[in-house]
Order: sequence, then structure tokens, then C-alpha cells
Amino acid sequence: MIMDGNGRWAAARGLPRLAGHKAGTDNLRRVIRACVDFGIQYLTIYAFSTENWGRPTDEVQGLMHILADVIDQELEELNAEGVHLRHIGRLERLDPELAEKVKFAVETTKNNTRLFLSIAWNYGGRDEIVCAIQRMMEDSVPPDQVNDELVSQYMFTAGTPDPDLIIRTSGEMRISNFLIWQAAYAEWYVTPTYWPDFDREELRRALVNYGQRDRRFGRLSTAECAPEESETNAG
Ligand code: FPP
Repeated sequence: MIMDGNGRWAAARGLPRLAGHKAGTDNLRRVIRACVDFGIQYLTIYAFSTENWGRPTDEVQGLMHILADVIDQELEELNAEGVHLRHIGRLERLDPELAEKVKFAVETTKNNTRLFLSIAWNYGGRDEIVCAIQRMMEDSVPPDQVNDELVSQYMFTAGTPDPDLIIRTSGEMRISNFLIWQAAYAEWYVTPTYWPDFDREELRRALVNYGQRDRRFGRLSTAECAPEESETNAG
């Protein structure tokens, strides 16, 4: 999920931008609940990008406080609901106390399996690739052993399947440095709705729409294949 449009949602109501982020956080709770109800196993939310540091200090600080508050107030319930929290991005630039909270939340929920919820915080797709290359070099990986699978294992998302569907709210048609390696064959759903208003019904519509897609992964659709080929070309 690219949770876009909080600022415009607030502006449309004459409210400060942070009120939009707070409304976005309330909505996130509802969307997580809906994902659990719909049986979604993996959800990744783009909450703070490497580029978001360029926003005014009070907005950046406000977002950091929101993350700290969410961990303080919601961790117990998320854990009880079986949510397994993961963080993708770099913790280094965060306030050490906040970084510790994130690590604690990840550790606390590590045995849960109902919903794997990855929070992209201080995350950028290019930064992730740079970090992966650095770590491969540190590990002296021989060039002929570098392949798709190995690169995926060096990503922050190692162990999480590539996204099937990326939803972006607020109508923007761009990837904004989100999961640029992992999204190679993701389906897209873009809605003009601002994130705080993206509700369960709209999530259902996005999933129904996704269910009607013909995912070919660069091959032919199953219907176009000869019967003996259709097994290998399915998907
Ligand atoms: C994009 O809208 C939204 C963000 C940069 C922040 C999203 C963060 C939350 C919803 C906080 C909750 C997350 C967690 C994990 C606690 P925008 O501000 O770019 O909107 P605009 O394009 O209308 O200005």
C-alpha cells in the first residue's frame, strides 16, 4: 500500500497536514483489520520514505511521534491478533529510542503468522539495492553467484514474497521508490481516494479487480497455450 493523500485530505478540511497523518493512522488500523478478515497474509505499508526527510521538521517529527505512539498503544493488540511486524528500511537515522521501540515490536511479534505486516520506514528502493550490493561485497560473493534469488535474499524484504498487488491512493501514477526490485511483476491498483478515506469496501473492490487480472509474467495467458503447455505457463 502506498498510503498517499493524507496532506490533501487535511487541506480539503482546512486542517494541518499532521491531522491528515493522524486520520491516515486511524485508517491504517481499519485496513489492517480488513486485511486480516479478508485472509491477506502479507501487507507492506509505505509509511516514511528516504525522501520524506526533506519535509518540514515539524512534519517529520510528527510522523516519528506517530510511529512511537502506534507501537506504544497498539503493540499488545497487534500481537494478540497474530500480526507479525517487520521493518524494512534503515533504523540508523532514527532517534535511538524509536529504533529500540521498532526492534522491540519486531522481536515481540516474531512468532506470529496470521498477517505479516512490513512497515517501510526510512525506506527507499534504491537505498535498499545499494545496501544489498554493499552487503554482498562485504560477504565477498563471487560475481557468478549473483542471481535474482540471491539479490532477493539481500533485500530488506528477504523472506517476504514479492507483492502481487500494489495499491496507491490519491490518484498518483508513480512508484516513488517503493519496492522497485520486488514490484517487477506486481499488479497496480490506483484510486483517486485519499488514504484516510480508503475503506474496507474500496479494499474489497481492489481485490475483486485484482482477481480479474490475467497475470502473464511476460508469457502467454493460459487460454492461449496448447493444453500440454498450459501447466508450465499457468500463473
Ligand atoms: C503520504 O501522504 C503519507 C505519508 C508520507 C505518511 C504516511 C504515514 C502514516 C499514515 C502514518 C502511519 C504509519 C505508521 C506505520 C504508524 P502525503 O502527506 O504525501 O499526502 P499529500 O500528497 O496529499 O500531501
